[in-house]
Amino acid sequence: MSASEKIENIQKTYKSEIGSATNNPEKLKELYIKFLGRKGLVADLYSELALLPNDQKPIFGQKINKLKIDIQNAFDKVEVSESGKDKNIGFDYSLPGNDFFQGSIHPITKVLDDISNIFKSIGFSIFSGNEIEDEFYNFEALNIPKYHPARDMQDTYYLNANKLLRTHTSASQIHFMENNKPPVKIISPGRVYRNEDISVRSYCLFHQIEGLYVDKNVSFADLKGVMEFFSKKYFGEDVKVRFRPSYFPFTEPSAEMDIYWGLESESDYRITKGTGWLEILGCGMVDPEVFKSVNYDSSLTGYAFGIGIERIAMLKYGITDIRLLYEGDIRFLRQF
Ligand code: PHE
Repeated sequence: MSASEKIENIQKTYKSEIGSATNNPEKLKELYIKFLGRKGLVADLYSELALLPNDQKPIFGQKINKLKIDIQNAFDKVEVSESGKDKNIGFDYSLPGNDFFQGSIHPITKVLDDISNIFKSIGFSIFSGNEIEDEFYNFEALNIPKYHPARDMQDTYYLNANKLLRTHTSASQIHFMENNKPPVKIISPGRVYRNEDISVRSYCLFHQIEGLYVDKNVSFADLKGVMEFFSKKYFGEDVKVRFRPSYFPFTEPSAEMDIYWGLESESDYRITKGTGWLEILGCGMVDPEVFKSVNYDSSLTGYAFGIGIERIAMLKYGITDIRLLYEGDIRFLRQF
């Protein structure tokens, strides 16, 4: 028999022979030795190859190599299905399991927690206010009387003639001082609501962290110092901040604080309106009128601040559309 006839013979038979050994490991082993063993049929072909004239060697060499691989594949197939059947389990325990998704912390919650922890570390306690308020807590006690133009600063959702959704966490200041004697050192994080047109930059609800510190001889320098401390802890030691004079009915003097974020990414441009600076909080010395409305002694002094959370979250995580924070889209949330 010539070498090529031998190859043809093996090609015709190996599949059915190996297939017939399914469920029969003994027979498989025998066949393996017969075809691929050290003295098997394929090895035999390689010795024949050595005897062929040089010009035929490449062609036969290729044929034999291919045959060897085909036979090996045929064994692999039977063996894989065999090992499963042998164990009688129907599936392979060594395969990796299915993934299941772990929840993640919402970016707003993360910013709230991180900032709260900074203030906790310097002795502020957490006080939770109410989301539903009346005009007294949200406005009057904060020196914003009826018909005061400052009420127009914040478009309010009214639930009925007197009940409303708080427009700022400053309402918590009044609740706390009504029920606690000075000194006061609290922060009050939470949701606030304003009837604003919904857009890339504004939404009908957002989050603030209110801060209130009342004692004897509290100064504006104390306020600045604490705001700078917080900024360094949160944004990094070399953060740049600036204070601009501002107006709030419940603080005097009042200021707004900006941080310099820079202009590196597209979201930086958008969120800072191309200036690199972002206003992140309002603050000031508690107005004596506020102390009056909670019957605090007029000799006290204090400062208050209100930090806007959404902007910080957007800047920190490069979020260009505020609405993403409220849509609950799992594809967005899984990134955090
Ligand atoms: N309540 C103010 C606002 O929502 C922020 C603020 C809080 C300002 C405390 C001064 C003191 O814009």
